Amino acid sequence: RDRIMLGPLVAAIDQGTSSTRFLVFNAKTAELLSHHQVEIKQSFPKEGWVEEDPKEILQSVYECMDKTCEKLTQLNIDISNIKAIGVTNQRETTLVWDKETGEPLYNAIVWLDLRTQSTVERLINKTPGRNKNHLKHKTGLPISTYFSAVKLRWLMDNVDEVSKAILSHRAMFGTIDSWLIWCLTGGKKGGVHCTDVTNASRTMLFNIHTMDWDPELCTYFGIPMEILPRVRSSSEIYGLMKSGCLTGIPISGCLGDQSAALVGQMCFQDGQAKNTYGTGCFLLRNTGPKPVMSDHGLLTTVAYKLGRDQPACYALEGSVAIAGAVVRWLKDNLGIIQTSSELEKLAAAVGTSYGCYFVPAFSGLYAPYWEPSARGIICGLTQFTNRSHLAFAALEAVCFQTRELMDAMNQDSGIPLTQLQVDGGMTSNRLLMQLQADILCIPVVKPSMPETTALGAAMAAGAAEGSAYGALTPMTSARSHLRSLSHRSTQRRVSSAMRAGRRPCRSP
Ligand code: G3P
Repeated sequence: RDRIMLGPLVAAIDQGTSSTRFLVFNAKTAELLSHHQVEIKQSFPKEGWVEEDPKEILQSVYECMDKTCEKLTQLNIDISNIKAIGVTNQRETTLVWDKETGEPLYNAIVWLDLRTQSTVERLINKTPGRNKNHLKHKTGLPISTYFSAVKLRWLMDNVDEVSKAILSHRAMFGTIDSWLIWCLTGGKKGGVHCTDVTNASRTMLFNIHTMDWDPELCTYFGIPMEILPRVRSSSEIYGLMKSGCLTGIPISGCLGDQSAALVGQMCFQDGQAKNTYGTGCFLLRNTGPKPVMSDHGLLTTVAYKLGRDQPACYALEGSVAIAGAVVRWLKDNLGIIQTSSELEKLAAAVGTSYGCYFVPAFSGLYAPYWEPSARGIICGLTQFTNRSHLAFAALEAVCFQTRELMDAMNQDSGIPLTQLQVDGGMTSNRLLMQLQADILCIPVVKPSMPETTALGAAMAAGAAEGSAYGALTPMTSARSHLRSLSHRSTQRRVSSAMRAGRRPCRSP
């Protein structure tokens, strides 16, 4: 059969907390042509600890690439049309590897991990006025277990192989983007050790004003700067794939997953916001070219920098640690559902939590509280309560947490959000989306192509200077083209109860 001629294709590696995906888009139309997904195992070696295996993560990327390419070939689509690959990833997750052997020196410590709680409390106690925001003027972040610097410090203090490798100048630190790009571009045979500004801004070692590693912050945490990756923009050629079915293709986009979703949702204007429901839940509002500091418990983060010579754009971020993870917990720990998709039916069967409330603070509370010692609670139980009420309360918990983020964001900006663009796995739950609209009292708007995180990374890769697609289609026309494609004809709008005149708006 004849090969289908589609023109250039762009691809994205989407390495999330719960799974890895590889997706291929038509560069001109942004149509998703094929993808493959592999679940990632998490281990919980002690209470509060969360780890993942860096080699399994790398292997999952190769597996997803191979399977997607096979699917494309079966569709008669020529994989040699893939012109650029973007990387998007779970942020903050920290690992150290040996650059001579290429071996990780410990498991990746996942962003949710709480083992550094006592370190964080000690650091906060040492600051003037016991101020968790002591480093916020440089980093945009509170001192918290969430960010990479304290995880890296733990590795240096507790893993002999890490401290020895640092002493013998063989250690490399990275978040998942750095690990993947280093491995994919050759690893110990000349791999590129880099990260992008969005991932760097989540480490607590990066100055979001100078846009570089900050020597004072590195001294504060006792981190040797030589182990840090080079910081690059989110859209430029970092290196070429050195193995696998896409050998020779440039990796030319890199964004932390929440930034990638902001780009994929076309939130390029100051004031535009999106909420992504993944393992956690992350509401980002574009604040333009100047960082805005929050007075209401939100983070200031780098949203994107789409090219070496392009200005950086910043965002205010509300982070919730547990969203989709509560569904996994109901499935794996309580066994009240067999598959995640059963949750909606179970909750819809009752349509109320019947006074039951669920605060899934499994990893402490993130925004706007930043309280690592908080723990989960289920209250309001009666003899009448059953697993459907619990399922409903779990969905409400995700929505109430988002409402808190939106309230904080509205207070910070003074301009209330009039609609919320959403994406991520949980948005396929229609009950959740309706509840969310009812609880926010604004419309919730969902693109029909839900892979906005991957689309954002693919856009950044395709638009990089020197990549084939970038030369063909400048970012601006790509944006307007993709905007019309992703949104104009395909959005689903879930109206809030206030507008639809159904149930009254509900407050947390
Ligand atoms: O900051 C953590 C975040 O990047 C994880 O995203 O999609 O894996 O929940 P996700």
